[in-house]
Amino acid sequence: MDRRGSLATCMLCMVSLMSQDTSGWQCGADVYSNYQMMLRAHTFKTIKARPGTSDCRQACNADTRCQSYNMVMFRGICELNNRTKDARPDDFIKNKDRYYITKAYYRVPLGSIPELPADSCEEILASEGEKAVSGSYWLHFNRSGNSLLTHCNMGMRDIDECEDNLHDCHSNATCKKTNGSYFCACKPGFGGDGKNECEDLDECTEGSHGCHSNGTCENTAGSYNCTCKTGFSGDECVEYRELNDARRKVTYAAVRPYKCDDSIIPGWYRMVEPAGKRIPTKCPGNTMCGTARPGWMNGVHPAVEDGVVSRKVCFSTRNSCCYKSLWIKVRSCGTFYVYYLRGIPNVCPESYCATD
Ligand SMILES: *[C@@H]1O[C@H](CO)[C@@H](O)[C@H](O)[C@H]1NC(C)=O
Ligand SMILES: *[C@@H]1O[C@H](CO)[C@@H](O)[C@H](O)[C@H]1NC(C)=O
Ligand SMILES: *[C@@H]1O[C@H](CO)[C@@H](O)[C@H](O)[C@H]1NC(C)=O
Ligand SMILES: *[C@@H]1O[C@H](CO)[C@@H](O)[C@H](O)[C@H]1NC(C)=O
Ligand SMILES: *[C@@H]1O[C@H](CO)[C@@H](O)[C@H](O)[C@H]1NC(C)=O
Ligand SMILES: *[C@@H]1O[C@H](CO)[C@@H](O)[C@H](O)[C@H]1NC(C)=O
Repeated sequence: MDRRGSLATCMLCMVSLMSQDTSGWQCGADVYSNYQMMLRAHTFKTIKARPGTSDCRQACNADTRCQSYNMVMFRGICELNNRTKDARPDDFIKNKDRYYITKAYYRVPLGSIPELPADSCEEILASEGEKAVSGSYWLHFNRSGNSLLTHCNMGMRDIDECEDNLHDCHSNATCKKTNGSYFCACKPGFGGDGKNECEDLDECTEGSHGCHSNGTCENTAGSYNCTCKTGFSGDECVEYRELNDARRKVTYAAVRPYKCDDSIIPGWYRMVEPAGKRIPTKCPGNTMCGTARPGWMNGVHPAVEDGVVSRKVCFSTRNSCCYKSLWIKVRSCGTFYVYYLRGIPNVCPESYCATD
């Protein structure tokens, strides 16, 4: 090592020790091998970082998508990456102005949350190594930017027809991987076998819409829109917000960071896919619905003629199906339900569940 090299390594040690990166504690081989290296093509955010501070590490820790970062030396810039060098060894290249660090703490495994979908099961295996077990992971669906929960068989390498575009699903259907095979399901608002046919359902003429009798139904691709007729203002069957996060589903096992509904604006809400269609009325297992203490409705759904009714939402833990509860309002709008919800006070993580 020449003098400049050892000086730079030494400076790097100091920077790393100051910012307390784990890699810094093993100062020497580990940091040195990442010095004058970078991960290219996976930067999702570039930030300013004051030299000698932990700005970069803190920014990376604060963003669940962040897997690693490149420090641009002497320029006070840091690049947050959504992959590690292990996931993409081909993109781990020499660069004399940078050094590379894998996120040490709080790194979310690739593909474990919808915000961080992997490109393939193989990529998860490369990224997580032996920690990658067979199970459900979020993958890019058809590289369109949407992510889809998919089973990865980490033991026997099983081809993924959906991910590899080897399927023959209709373009208005979703390909879903099963063990050893796949199936096609028309997207919500479309009807058919998923392969040869997925016709747009006209909810307005079929009368399956939930628009108010003083509202107007307008068919849209895959869904429908309700608007109030002139002279009428909305009610909760017309004016509601939608909750559609797939992690709400009662079958979705929670992974950190857990969902927390502490900041829901009080108002009327409708559960829609991919979350589900309604709040479940049975106690879900704890840590389902993307949260540690899922909320379910302890009571039956009302009929249209019941109007607005009050119901209790229970939050379940490992030991109790109702360790705490709060009151909500529910109304049947014919083909769907709306719920008057508000933020769940005090302790996170608790959140309202959805089911089909
Ligand atoms: C990851 O970063 C790349 C850019 O490097 C970007 O195109 C991609 O959308 C990012 N993925 C996610 C899930 O943010
Ligand atoms: C998937 O992508 C291919 C092009 O890569 C496209 O032809 C096909 O229609 C897409 N399938 C779906 C279901 O979006
Ligand atoms: C997938 O199918 C194989 C063969 O039938 C079986 O041995 C394996 O346990 C299955 N894996 C899962 C996750 O169901
Ligand atoms: C629709 O508007 C009419 C006229 O104002 C009113 O009598 C009727 O009750 C409204 N329907 C509903 C379901 O509110
Ligand atoms: C899929 O749905 C869109 C929106 O309704 C429609 O324009 C398109 O023609 C459909 N694709 C096929 C192949 O039917
Ligand atoms: C539904 O109605 C809203 C409000 O008028 C409008 O912004 C939106 O574009 C409509 N959606 C479709 C798909 O027509």
